[in-house]
Amino acid sequence: MKIIMLGAPGAGKGTQAKQIAEKYTIPHISTGDIFRANIKNNTELGKKAKEYMDQGLLVPDELTCDLVMDRIKEDDAKNGFVLDGFPRTIPQAEALDKALSAIGESMDYAIDVDVPDENIVNRMSGRRACVECGATYHIVAIPPKQEGICDKCGSKLILRDDDKPETVQKRLDVYHEQTQPLIDYYKKQGILKSVDGTQDMEKVFADITDILGA
Ligand code: AP5
Ligand code: MG
Repeated sequence: MKIIMLGAPGAGKGTQAKQIAEKYTIPHISTGDIFRANIKNNTELGKKAKEYMDQGLLVPDELTCDLVMDRIKEDDAKNGFVLDGFPRTIPQAEALDKALSAIGESMDYAIDVDVPDENIVNRMSGRRACVECGATYHIVAIPPKQEGICDKCGSKLILRDDDKPETVQKRLDVYHEQTQPLIDYYKKQGILKSVDGTQDMEKVFADITDILGA
């Protein structure tokens, strides 16, 4: 099963993609997580990506596309994958379609997690992410058992650099301009599904599994 998670920053793509990956035993491929791991390890890619991410801008397609195309060819992705945060522009979507059609394949679902902008800023300021394993929490909606500490691995939880309110607003503007057109792109392909992302996360996941089937 090959799935794309669409949605504004903070819509809950990562939260849902992790659960989908677990339930259907497919890898969760998040370009944001890949860039953040590179930033943490101070790689060349990380240094370049950080310049854009800290401003709420998209990392250029030429730094993003090859990375994903290589990742989906790995062994664990043979039975499918869930893409989170990619594609984010029409050229990225076209690059993905081209790479898949070259091997006689295509995407199965593009799931849009729909959350209005008003809800987003509040969600982002409450998000905390684990520095080690990447697990995410929300100080009100999904709090960790112990404040500031990851339930899964015991490491420290931090506010992401790009979750400051002024950067979040920029990310939302970039989303509407460059990423939202993908909703129509996948609607035309007949694989777009929408879920109401303002519901609690269990209900959002139930709606997604209804779409994907048991
Ligand atoms: P990326 O890491 O992909 O960030 P994003 O799209 O801005 O999305 P987020 O990760 O912020 O949100 P999410 O939808 O995953 O929400 P989450 O589940 O965490 O990208 C970061 C940056 O990297 C980009 O700005 C760009 O610079 C660069 N980049 C990445 N991919 C790129 C690409 N393809 N091309 C170019 N550049 C790229 O949930 C948010 C919060 O809400 C959490 O606290 C969570 O606990 C909470 N929450 C989740 N669901 C619910 C719910 N149902 N109810 C209440 N709270 C909830
Ligand atoms: Mg995410």
